[in-house]
Amino acid sequence: MPTDAMTLKCIDHVRMFVGNARQSAYFYRNAFGFEVIAYGGLETGMKHEACYVLRQGQITFVLASPLSALHPEAHRLVRHGDGVQSIALEVDDVRAAFEVAVARGAQAASPPRTVEDEHGAIDLAEIHAYGDTTHTLLNRSRYQGVFAPGFKPLDADRYSPRTFHPVGLKAIDHIVANVEEGKMGDWVDYYSKIMGFSLLASFDDKDISTEYSALMSRVVADGRGRIKFPINEPAKSRRRSQIDEFLEYYGGPGVQHIALATGDIIASVRAMAANDVSFLKVPSAYYEMLPQRVGTIQEDLRELAELGILVDRDDEGYLLQIFTKPVEDRPTLFLEIIQRRGAQSFGKGNFKALFEAIEREQARRGTL
Ligand code: FE2
Repeated sequence: MPTDAMTLKCIDHVRMFVGNARQSAYFYRNAFGFEVIAYGGLETGMKHEACYVLRQGQITFVLASPLSALHPEAHRLVRHGDGVQSIALEVDDVRAAFEVAVARGAQAASPPRTVEDEHGAIDLAEIHAYGDTTHTLLNRSRYQGVFAPGFKPLDADRYSPRTFHPVGLKAIDHIVANVEEGKMGDWVDYYSKIMGFSLLASFDDKDISTEYSALMSRVVADGRGRIKFPINEPAKSRRRSQIDEFLEYYGGPGVQHIALATGDIIASVRAMAANDVSFLKVPSAYYEMLPQRVGTIQEDLRELAELGILVDRDDEGYLLQIFTKPVEDRPTLFLEIIQRRGAQSFGKGNFKALFEAIEREQARRGTL
């Protein structure tokens, strides 16, 4: 595989811009089993925002809230509600990566800079992606602190360091974008041209359509297949598709869902359900047809049906997955929990059952 300055090492973190980071941190900790590891705010020298860093396995979420209307990104909250602001990607040389990205047509959001404290230095820069989502390019190889300059380990007064209950989530499997009708190809080109990603899979409205809803999707991935970004656009359908609903309530393109991998989906989902996480449910008929569709699997079918976990098979194996309902009041961002047993695909066989479940929710919201 050829490497160049834009070769990505991993997704370093996902930064979400939210209305009340303190309360969101409580939600992600107590519902999804994240540990709150660091805080940045007035007490640590941040003037415009409060940030909580959450960690589970290799997953890092940063929840940020503006402290006043003077925050340069404060407008995001009115327009989008809570949502993903940036997907931060680790590179070897931030300046070189930024220059290459811009030379290949990426729009600069903020030029390379180095932030330092007594624990070392982090280089970072930012480029625009779909909507007003950005990619932060960063290198933390010279940094030994808890997260980044401006952050301190969590103060016990802010969140008690009592034993939190991990849910067993291990890593980010993929992050999905919803973009406007007709724009999917442009964003596939963006990731191919600028980041050297290749097309992993393509779904058209024949794969993904129900009576009402239709969408098209293409999956791009980095050379090592570690970073996978499916990109959806709405397709013509009889009524408003879930992608149109997202675009309306998010106020434009943005991150639709983040899929988090677990090594034991039954244990993870059981723990989250006990923590009151709400999941999309498919009709019980789904499980009657499952043995014919996917053949022999290790898991107990009754347990999967009880929890609402979906299964799909491809040439390489099978996967188990489940989707939460939106994690905020707007019908926008949600999470997926996924366990791969060989399969490297995305659950195409579940799309129809799943979209019908989403449409039942849309009908309840009066947005179908
Ligand atoms: Fe997904």
